[in-house]
Amino acid sequence: MPIIEMATSFSEKYGPWALVTGASRGLGAEFARQCAERGLNVVLVATNAGLLRSRADELERDHGIETRTVALDLSREDILQQLAPVTDSLQVGLLVNNAGVSTVRPFLHHSLDQLLRQLHVNARAGLMLAHHFGEKMVQQTRGGIIFLSSGSALHGTAYCANYAGTKAYNLIIAETLWYELGRHGVDVLGFMAGSTKTPGWDANEAKPHRLVKVMDVRTAVAEALDALGKRPSIISGRSNRLGYLVMGKMMSRTGAIRTLGRSMERMFGPFSETD
Ligand SMILES: NC(=O)c1ccc[n+]([C@@H]2O[C@H](COP(=O)([O-])OP(=O)(O)OC[C@H]3O[C@@H](n4cnc5c(N)ncnc54)[C@H](OP(=O)(O)O)[C@@H]3O)[C@@H](O)[C@H]2O)c1
Repeated sequence: MPIIEMATSFSEKYGPWALVTGASRGLGAEFARQCAERGLNVVLVATNAGLLRSRADELERDHGIETRTVALDLSREDILQQLAPVTDSLQVGLLVNNAGVSTVRPFLHHSLDQLLRQLHVNARAGLMLAHHFGEKMVQQTRGGIIFLSSGSALHGTAYCANYAGTKAYNLIIAETLWYELGRHGVDVLGFMAGSTKTPGWDANEAKPHRLVKVMDVRTAVAEALDALGKRPSIISGRSNRLGYLVMGKMMSRTGAIRTLGRSMERMFGPFSETD
């Protein structure tokens, strides 16, 4: 085992560069902002080049840090080659695998192409990036990786079967690497975001539900960054933690899956033939 020196500040542990995927809006834009606030330079990755540039300009202006932007479709197979010209010369100490495609509609109303693309963005891209940057972090005996998961990782969640499957993948790979890479000084976190007010959340047009409290991005991201290095995974928001605890302890798995299915129908249904 390598001797691991204890870095104290956030930037000593995870600097000098963070790479955040899906940084053009929503939770990813907020991860980029809070990394900058904590003193890290940031590589912002997403497909929308214009939005990335304006986010990056904001961070440079408000926090005096450096940025790079990479407009890249993370469903591609060659993402490491595409990133290399920008990231090979940078020491990336924090990777936030945030980019994700979320859709709520019956499984068979998606084409197979849509489902594969979702699988590649939500799971394969994060796997490739964690393998690439994780190896460098282990050599440095420091660093951090966050995988965006979701409460849907914990039980079958109707009308987002493939999405929930990718989030379960992210949770388990994160918790496993928390142990494996943690032995080499690298912190890993599976972040199960609860319902959070973002463009992605709004696009699914949820109706209010008495048990669902929609969080703001600032609080959710601060919880994730504060939990990194302290535990393998976290659910954002006290009410979400309580809700999943009760469901996990008080309901059978069958009961929990049925309850979630009915809640999804109330919040996102009714589903038409074309949804
Ligand atoms: N909001 C919630 O309630 C919630 C709950 C649980 C988990 N999460 C997870 O949190 C993460 C962020 O969610 P969000 O609500 O902030 O979503 P969002 O508002 O839809 O933002 C998604 C981000 O991912 C990027 N992205 C999408 N497809 C991409 C692709 N093919 N290549 C590169 N970038 C791509 C988007 O940028 P471009 O359009 O510019 O490519 C955008 O920056 C996701 O992994 C989501 O599953 C969210």
